[in-house]
Amino acid sequence: MEKNEKTSQIPGFYKLPIEKRRSIVKDFANLSDQDFNVFSEQMNIDLADRMIENVLGTFEIPFGIALNFRIDNKDVLIPMVVEESSVVAAASNAAKIARIHGGFKTSVSDPIMIGQIQVLDIPDLVHAAEEIIELKQNLLQIANEQDKILVNLGGGAKDVEVRILNSPLGAMIVLHLLVDVRDAMGANAVNTMVEALAPIVQEITKGKVRLKILSNLADRRIATATAIFDREKMGGEEAVDAFLESYTLATIDPYRAATHNKGIMNGIDAVLIATGNDFRAVEAGAHAYAARNGQYTSLTRYWKDGSGNLIGEIELPVAVGIVGGAGSIHPKAILCKRIMGIKSADDLSRSIASLGLAQNFAAVFALSTVGIQKGHMSLHAKNIAMMAGAKDTEIDKVAAQLVKEGKIRLDRAKEILKTLK
Ligand code: MEV
Repeated sequence: MEKNEKTSQIPGFYKLPIEKRRSIVKDFANLSDQDFNVFSEQMNIDLADRMIENVLGTFEIPFGIALNFRIDNKDVLIPMVVEESSVVAAASNAAKIARIHGGFKTSVSDPIMIGQIQVLDIPDLVHAAEEIIELKQNLLQIANEQDKILVNLGGGAKDVEVRILNSPLGAMIVLHLLVDVRDAMGANAVNTMVEALAPIVQEITKGKVRLKILSNLADRRIATATAIFDREKMGGEEAVDAFLESYTLATIDPYRAATHNKGIMNGIDAVLIATGNDFRAVEAGAHAYAARNGQYTSLTRYWKDGSGNLIGEIELPVAVGIVGGAGSIHPKAILCKRIMGIKSADDLSRSIASLGLAQNFAAVFALSTVGIQKGHMSLHAKNIAMMAGAKDTEIDKVAAQLVKEGKIRLDRAKEILKTLK
């Protein structure tokens, strides 16, 4: 790290009062008190009412910050909005271990999204497919007329591909429009383009256009992250081997892979929500990508380097935006993006991939050693204590007793609480 560079490594952060934590993050991100006040305020109800239908109110989820991330030689604080205990701590711990060997190194492809146009009842499939390719430039031109701003930014429709698929309804053509969406998630731009092209494609193919919509399998918009997890910090060679044994199950068994990838999405969804992105879209893309070779498998890969350290790698589609969508109007999402210091959707994708890898490493590491319940225990005990009716200082007292007894149960929490009254 260079002298005077800001660090995301803040020892004892979790022990500080919330006000102090806020002030550290505010300084890290060069935000003013006024900027930061947004985090103390509830979302304006009129804004909520404009965002969705039949609004009754807003719904709060805890917002925390993941520490220790060093991504492509720069320290980053990652905002996470998540209801599950241990997720933020686990990511921060993994990032701390990755830091020893320089943190995360990432790559991203161009931000290409795919729009699909489904055409049925085509009299001559091969001829229709040839015609589409022949008229590709015209189609691209018409698509690009729909979004001059995107084109001026260097994006826009770039290519057309034709797929012929068999179905119970007979063979059909699925046209793929490849659109560089720059810093947007891209759904609006792509959907507008494919809708504009639909009648023309129908005419060219002499078939019947049905669906025209973005694909969430954004396999042309891939982010990767790799990191070296220090062998000694993990507890030595045996711990690394135990990790690899546990991980291997996710590579061969969809039952385990689903849980393994769920752990990855624990982190990824949290930052997607914090930045106002469509987490369902990224979830759908990630899981479909995990099954791209015909069997659902792990989104991460691990192996040992020459020194016995563990190398981890994640590769997944990341369809996110920093302009447009809810992230541009939700005040907390706007601030979260400022905390991360992101200037482009690429920057966000790099952090997302790194966080996903960190989250996965932390889960598999815990599972291959002590199991996850130990880490979960104290926070879970606090939740149970609150459910039992404990207030203020009672919460920690009841939780501590539950952990001591190794029984995190509501009935026991109620009994302990009674003894404190
Ligand atoms: C729990 O939310 C996530 C884990 O189950 C992930 C995993 O098993 O790898 C711990």
